[in-house]
Amino acid sequence: MLKIGVLISGGGTNLQAILDAIDCGQISKAEIKVVISNNPNAYGLERARKRGIDAFCIAPGDFRERKEFYDALLGKVNEYGLDLIVLAGFLVTIPPAMVQTYKNRIINIHPSLIPAFCGRGYYGLNVHEAALARGVKVTGATVHYVDEGTDTGPILLQKAVEVYDGDTPESLQKRVMEEAEWKILPQAIEMIAARQEERE
Ligand code: GAR
Repeated sequence: MLKIGVLISGGGTNLQAILDAIDCGQISKAEIKVVISNNPNAYGLERARKRGIDAFCIAPGDFRERKEFYDALLGKVNEYGLDLIVLAGFLVTIPPAMVQTYKNRIINIHPSLIPAFCGRGYYGLNVHEAALARGVKVTGATVHYVDEGTDTGPILLQKAVEVYDGDTPESLQKRVMEEAEWKILPQAIEMIAARQEERE
């Protein structure tokens, strides 16, 4: 079983998609060991606790310096002996030491077709606002490995989603989640888990 930790900042609908995929057997080779949020009000923490999964808030604002926040976050992650860290709407930069320690073992879901609308400043609704402002007819979502850059790591899976006339950032965000994010994130996890099983 691939041991995964999921990092979130908000609603946690991608976390829910992973939980649903576990329930229906689409993910059969991975289990969630811990969920961590930087935001105490993240509903995703509730989703995890309801399932009896360890769930913690580690908020940057509770520390005097960024380094202390980074140490606490990495320390918590390290407690669980994880094979994979999933950034499922985690909107805070992760500690550089985490990227090094978990090289090729961190994935992120991004709500666009990278390399479009990604990098610093592109997160959440902003991404869809930018896509609509540019007038693209197709957008989508990407699951990629995390490296030292922002949204620069190797791409694992992508799925395209049509933009409709009259879309708002909210309507587009919803369609990208439903048609792309909630599908390719569980798919990527099962793919990585299957690869690990083959190696063992
Ligand atoms: C998702 O749309 C995810 O792709 C995005 O944040 C949202 C979180 O929603 N992530 C980024 O923008 C990362 N750059 P959720 O909490 O409901 O899963």
